[in-house]
Amino acid sequence: YTTECGKHFSCSTFLDQVLYKISAIIFCFGRTEVIDNTLNPDFVRKYILDYFFEEKQNLRFDFYDVDSKSPDLSKHDFLGQMFCTLGEIVGSPASRLEKPLGGIPGKKCGTIILTAEELSNCRDSATMQFCANKLDKKDFFGKSDPFMVFYRSNEDGTFTICHKTEVVKNTLNPVWQPFTIPVRALCNGDYDRTIKVEVYDWDRDGSHDFIGDFTTSYRELARGQSQFNVYEVINTKKKMKKKKYVNSGTVTLLSFSVESEFTFLDYIKGGTQINFTVAIDFTASNGNPSQSTSLHYMNPYQLNAYAMALKAVGEIIQDYDSDKMFPALGFGAKLPPDGRVSHEFPLNGNIENPYCNGIEGILEAYHQSLKTVQLYGPTNFAPIVNHVARYAAAVQDGSQYFVLLIITDGVISDMAQTKEAIVNAAKLPMSIIIVGVGQAEFDAMVELDGDDIRISSRGKLAERDIVQFVPFRDYMDRTGNHVLSMARLAKDVLAEIPDQFISYMKSRGIKPNPAPPPYTPPGHTHHHTQI
Ligand SMILES: *[C@@H]1O[C@H](CO)[C@@H](O)[C@H](O)[C@H]1NC(C)=O
Repeated sequence: YTTECGKHFSCSTFLDQVLYKISAIIFCFGRTEVIDNTLNPDFVRKYILDYFFEEKQNLRFDFYDVDSKSPDLSKHDFLGQMFCTLGEIVGSPASRLEKPLGGIPGKKCGTIILTAEELSNCRDSATMQFCANKLDKKDFFGKSDPFMVFYRSNEDGTFTICHKTEVVKNTLNPVWQPFTIPVRALCNGDYDRTIKVEVYDWDRDGSHDFIGDFTTSYRELARGQSQFNVYEVINTKKKMKKKKYVNSGTVTLLSFSVESEFTFLDYIKGGTQINFTVAIDFTASNGNPSQSTSLHYMNPYQLNAYAMALKAVGEIIQDYDSDKMFPALGFGAKLPPDGRVSHEFPLNGNIENPYCNGIEGILEAYHQSLKTVQLYGPTNFAPIVNHVARYAAAVQDGSQYFVLLIITDGVISDMAQTKEAIVNAAKLPMSIIIVGVGQAEFDAMVELDGDDIRISSRGKLAERDIVQFVPFRDYMDRTGNHVLSMARLAKDVLAEIPDQFISYMKSRGIKPNPAPPPYTPPGHTHHHTQI
């Protein structure tokens, strides 16, 4: 798509924008079986849904009393409905969510109980090792420098790259190092899906020469080392040209093993809570909140960038926090009554109890603060990071994981201290999300993000990557007035959290608590009543 001002939108950006404007598209996912003559039906039919931590996956359940064979729902009596998110279900203790049904004004419609369970093959990781024999010689001088690329096939017949081996130099009989890959990445949990493997000769200039390819599947690989796991590497072009062509060498599976790994959901199910803390930048560079140019402008008709970022991220994370009470802090302001500058003050003004009730509560406290404090400076991050780190240091048993969301206009003044604070925090159950608002250069934030170069302080390297940074303007249209996609913003900042979470638990050898026993309906005696 090309807009009138010449800016190109990818199709999905455009679609996202449309979705945002009309706010919902509803797909009917499926219907349960009908259970006759009961007010306490215990449905057996299960539905498989893709789960993404970083997305708000809205669900709706409608109940009907079926009186006839008609497939048309309007022909049946509506009994009530319930709205929730998939995150709410998996984030509930033992992934069991109980909620009242609504939808008929003034009437109690009963309750619904939902349970979620993670498909078991999603958690497996396979470790395998390969060697090759008599590969084609591709280099004029010397032999070949072979490496392999693995692709999983998608439902639509396309292929997605999922693993690349290292290059073994100057040999036609390479032995590659063993590697470990999640089964999900290899075949999406579908054991019979085609896995394509291409063998190349590495070239310094990147124009790697294709030696040949072969296909296999998880099920075949899982048989381990055997005559079934020796693959002929075929170069189709060469095969068509040369009559006597046999193959371009063989690849042999040397070993194969599977290990079950704990997933993010295992810990959540076992009771780990996400402690979500919000920190908001109250420095003067944001501009006077009463003026429309300010990043803190309180527009009665539209949320400002701070409020939008907070809402987008908060609404997803809150599903994993059972009491939905969130500490919210501000930094860089002069506080009443004495005008003292603070870099860690509670937005609700209550040091003893900085908690706000839900995302709405944070927004309220934020607006209240804007009226009472004076924007000042400088922009110090370290006190906030250390503040949350102090709490994280006190609970290192895996029962809590801390996520700090910092929203800032980005002209950071204590870079050295912040780096040190982050290097220390990387040892703790903690992740930091930074959303940069406004038009500043965010070079410092990109450095803190550490995606390219792991951050360090005084020669100490951070143990894990715990910072994710995104500039808010990337999610706005050209005029800077409209958010293209809140959902995408949340997705981009939250996508790394489950892996960061797992990296902490793994490095500390923390296993998830066993989930409470699966739920059985009380007494399992149904009241048989006519409806
Ligand atoms: C969550 O972390 C904040 C600090 O960011 C702390 O004030 C609060 O007490 C923590 N909540 C729990 C339940 O530990």
